[in-house]
Amino acid sequence: MKFAPITDRLMNLGSDKWTLHFRTRELKAKGEPVIELTIGEPDLTPDREVLDALVSSLYSGRIKYSYGRGEPDTLEAIAKKYTKARGYQVDVENVICFPGTQTAIFATILGLTDENNSILVGDPYYATYEGLIASTGAKRISVPLKQEHGFRMQASDLEREIREDSRLLLLNNPNNPTGSVLSKEEIQEICRVCEKHDLWILADEVYENLVYEGEFYSPLMEENYRDRIISVASVSKTYGVPGFRSGWAVGPKEFCSHLVPLAETMLFGGVPFIADATAFALNSTSDFVDRMGSSYFHRAKLIVEALAPSNKIKPFLPSSGMFILVDVTETGMDGEEFAWKLLETEKVAVMPGNSFGKNAASFVRLSLTVEDDLLVEACHRIRSFVQTQD
Ligand SMILES: Cc1ncc(COP(=O)(O)O)c(C=O)c1O
Repeated sequence: MKFAPITDRLMNLGSDKWTLHFRTRELKAKGEPVIELTIGEPDLTPDREVLDALVSSLYSGRIKYSYGRGEPDTLEAIAKKYTKARGYQVDVENVICFPGTQTAIFATILGLTDENNSILVGDPYYATYEGLIASTGAKRISVPLKQEHGFRMQASDLEREIREDSRLLLLNNPNNPTGSVLSKEEIQEICRVCEKHDLWILADEVYENLVYEGEFYSPLMEENYRDRIISVASVSKTYGVPGFRSGWAVGPKEFCSHLVPLAETMLFGGVPFIADATAFALNSTSDFVDRMGSSYFHRAKLIVEALAPSNKIKPFLPSSGMFILVDVTETGMDGEEFAWKLLETEKVAVMPGNSFGKNAASFVRLSLTVEDDLLVEACHRIRSFVQTQD
């Protein structure tokens, strides 16, 4: 049978990145005592009011077809949130709803690029980016995020990689997996380079509310460059409800009017009762994300402390997000070998760094989404694993 080239391009880029995670779930289902530090599922219970809003909307009959751009109240709530957070007037015409940040990125890339273009992305990058870029046939160009710069993208490193066919920079800030947060000056420099080379900036800002050191700054705060900037995010992390699959893109009105038909063709609208719960969450004064952020930062420091006695592995304290990278170079293993052996021998599941790009290959990524005691136990097992490798 014949398939379209997109299926070949995506062949090893979907769930293959998460093989170790799925193996972990299998082991757990068999009753093995695995400590799972793989994916980023918030462990704090979401606000009861948000769930109540969803249920009452569902029972009120909000189960019919909806608008392609998004439900009016939800668009309004997103526009209001961005007006306040970015410091300029954002209208509903600047917004489109999507089922999560993932789809918002997919549709944006599809709407802006094709196989004749290249897309620049910082490496390390979020695991699904490779597939998202490959889906359109565009070439992926990695911009090295260097540890000596705290894994923050430097405009000079970006400019060095830009080519004639480059159309878009996919900028993840705050970054997963590194937890780094770009400064205002770094964002301004990056914007300048993107304008000089006529690039769109697609800013994945899903962790904007989970910054615990430094200040979040969005390219959308830069008035002069707004006509080339799209910000995407969702309720997944901020309200602890990734299963809602509810996100959005905010950008120039012209961009949105071009993207709405694409969104309609792909999705034919969203889920009204989820849209209502999204609007409720965005309009609420929930402190959920602040509580979550403090517990993640506390856990990141706990891990740094618990791993300190081992001089062979080096945790990199994040400034944001729900993960911590640990450099395993000095064990003589790369992240992939380390992660699989650790799972086999000590029943601790961490993500191999190479799922997040070439520059993360000598790292493993630990999720901060399990309670403190278990994290400390995981660190003890990691240390004893490292010792037995001597
Ligand atoms: C950087 C980044 N972007 C996007 C996503 C996907 O988010 P969503 O649930 O909104 O699709 C994640 C999820 O972990 C992420 O870490």
